[in-house]
Amino acid sequence: MEIVSTMADYKRAYEQSVAHPEDFWSEIASDFVWKRKWDKVLEWDFKNAEVKWFIGGKMNITENCIDRHLAERADQTAVIWEPGDPGQKARMITYQQLHDEVCKVSNVLKSHGVRKGDRVCIYMPMVPELAYAVLACARIGAVHSVVFAGFSAGSLADRINDAGCKMVLTADGAFRGDKKVDLKKIVDEAVDKCPSVEKVLMLERIASKPSMKAGRDFDWQEEMNKADANCKAEEMDAEDLLFILYTSGSTGKPKGMVHTCGGYMVHVGYTFRTVFQYQPGQIFWCTADIGWVTGHSYILYGPLSAGATTVIFEGIPSWPDQGRFWQAIERHKVNTFYTAPTAIRSLQQSSVEFVEKYDLSSLKILGSVGEPINEEAWQWYNKNIGKEKCPIVDTWWQTETGGIMISPIANVTKLKPAFASFPLPGVQPAVMDEKGNEISGNGIEGRLAIKFPWPSIARTIYGNHQRFKEIYFSTFSGMYFTGDGCKRDDEGYYRITGRVDDIIIVSGHNLGTAEIENAIDEHKAVCETAVVGFPHDIKGQGVYAFVICYEKPKDEEKLRQEIRDTVSKIIGPIAKPDKIQFVSGLPKTRSGKIMRRILRKVAEGDTSNLGDTTTLLDPTIVDEITRGALG
Ligand code: PRX
Repeated sequence: MEIVSTMADYKRAYEQSVAHPEDFWSEIASDFVWKRKWDKVLEWDFKNAEVKWFIGGKMNITENCIDRHLAERADQTAVIWEPGDPGQKARMITYQQLHDEVCKVSNVLKSHGVRKGDRVCIYMPMVPELAYAVLACARIGAVHSVVFAGFSAGSLADRINDAGCKMVLTADGAFRGDKKVDLKKIVDEAVDKCPSVEKVLMLERIASKPSMKAGRDFDWQEEMNKADANCKAEEMDAEDLLFILYTSGSTGKPKGMVHTCGGYMVHVGYTFRTVFQYQPGQIFWCTADIGWVTGHSYILYGPLSAGATTVIFEGIPSWPDQGRFWQAIERHKVNTFYTAPTAIRSLQQSSVEFVEKYDLSSLKILGSVGEPINEEAWQWYNKNIGKEKCPIVDTWWQTETGGIMISPIANVTKLKPAFASFPLPGVQPAVMDEKGNEISGNGIEGRLAIKFPWPSIARTIYGNHQRFKEIYFSTFSGMYFTGDGCKRDDEGYYRITGRVDDIIIVSGHNLGTAEIENAIDEHKAVCETAVVGFPHDIKGQGVYAFVICYEKPKDEEKLRQEIRDTVSKIIGPIAKPDKIQFVSGLPKTRSGKIMRRILRKVAEGDTSNLGDTTTLLDPTIVDEITRGALG
C-alpha cells in the first residue's frame, strides 16, 4: 500500500479516496493476506444503516497479525510486556512465541466447546495472556467481548447476558498500583446471573487461590500445558463478526458495538501505518487498556498487522511515582507514545523532575486520543515529553468508527495545538447545522457527521439493529452522526469540541448520564436524579449529580459517600460522582423533560445567564439550585 509521506501525497490520496473510494480501499486491502479475494468492494445504504465491505472475501485477521510475519520476523519481539511493578522483569514475546501461545489458547477454547460464532467474554488484567485470549478468539472465529476489568459484577453480568457469552476468560486478580483487586470474585458474582456461561478459564496473576467451581472453572496454566502450539486459522468471511465492544449510550443500557473482520483489519492497519508513519523495527506504545477500543485497534490489531513491536503496560501512570511512564519509555526505548489527555493533565500537575530523570531521546512521535486535548496540556506534552522535536497526532475517532478518522499525519501535517486537523484519506466528514443542513465553507461550527462509509464502521448494535439505526443514522438523513460537535477553521482544520448528547467523557471513558442516574436511583433514600458533566482540571469532565431524596438527608456527607459506593458497585469506580448536590426538585418543562442546559450551567459554576426559564413547570426551583451549587 502506498503510505502518504508528504502533504502532496495526502492531497492526492484524499482526492482519489473521494473520487474512487472503492479503488482506493481495494488497493489498500490488497496488501493484506486473503484466503479468497472479495467479489465486490462495497455495498451500502445509510438510510437502513447497512454497510458491507469486501463482500465475498475470506481471511483470518490473526494470519495477518501473526503468521505472515513468521517468515521474516519469527524472532523479532512482537509484544513487550511491562509489569505494573517496575521491580519485576519485563517479558519479551517474539512473533513465533505469540503464534504458539495464541494457538495454544485457541486449542484450549476449542477443547471447551467454543466454536466459530460463539461469544467469549474476556475480563482480564493487562497481561500478555489477555492479548493471547483476544487473538485466540479471532483465530477460531469466536466473537470476543472484552470487558474492562474495572467494571462491577453487575455491569459485567449485563454485558455477558447481552452477548450470550458461552465462556469467560479471567484471572484470579489484578494489581492496581500497590493494591490487588479480586477479579475472580467479581466474575463468580456475575456468572451466577448468566445462564449462558458454561465455562470459566482463570489465569493466576495475584496468587490468591480463589475457590473454583468444579466442572465450570478451569486453571489457565493446566489447560495450556495440555494444548498444542499449532491451530489452523478459521476461514472467516470479511463480514463475519470479529468482536463486540460495549460503549455507553444515552439510555441506561450500554451498546454492544459490532465490528466485522475484513474492513476493520484494513482500516486499523492502514491508519496505524499512516498516522504514526510506522517504520519497521520501531517500538510502539499505546497506554490504553485493551478493554477499550483504543487498545483493540492500536495495541493489538493495528501494530501487529504491520509487524510492529507493541508495548502492553500493566501498571498505572502514578505508581510507584509520577515518573512511571517516562521510566518505561527509557527502559524500552519507545519510539511512539500514544496516550490520553487525562493522563497528560494528571502528570503535568507533578514536578518536571519526574520527567527529567529519564532519557526520552528514543521518542519520535507522540499521540493523543479519547477527548479534546486542551492547549495547555498539548504545550506541556510537546515541551517536556517531545522536547519540541516530536509531532503530536491528536487522533479523533470512536468505538463506533473502529479506527482513527480525523488526525494529523506525523511529520506530514502542519500541527495546530488542540486541532485534530484533517480527515484521513477515505473519511468524508460533514459539518451540520441544527436543521440538518450541511454547512459548507470554512470558519464554521456545527455537528460532526460522516457522509460516506469507511471500512471499520461498526455494523450494528448487537441484537438491536433498530437502535443502531436510530442513534447513528436518523439525525441527519443519509449520514452517520457522531454525537460530537466541531469547528472547521479558516484553513479547514477540524477541532472537536465535545459531545452534544447525553454522554460525558470522564478521564477518556464514555459514560452515559442515564446509566449513572439509574445507579444513583438504586439507593433507597433517592427519589430522582439528574446527572451532567462539568469541566474538571484533570479528568476533562467530572460527574455532577443533582439528587432529590424522599426525606431531607440528616447527614449529607454520609449519604454522599453511600451514593458513591452504590455507583461504584453498580457500574464501577470510574462512574462515581465527583459532586452531589441535594435538591428538592429539578428544572422540568411542562412536558416533564429535565432542562439539562440549566443544570450544566450550574455545574460549570456559570449562573449569570441561564437563558429562558419561563417554560419551566416551577421556575423557583432554579433559584434554589443556584444557591446550593457546589463550587
Ligand atoms: O467525543 C469524542 C471523544 O471520544 C468519543 C469516543 O469515545 P470512545 O468511543 O470511548 O472512543 C475513545 C477512543 C477512540 C468521541 O465521540 N474523542 C475521542 N478522541 C478525541 C475525542 N474528542 C476530541 N479529540 C479527540 N482526539
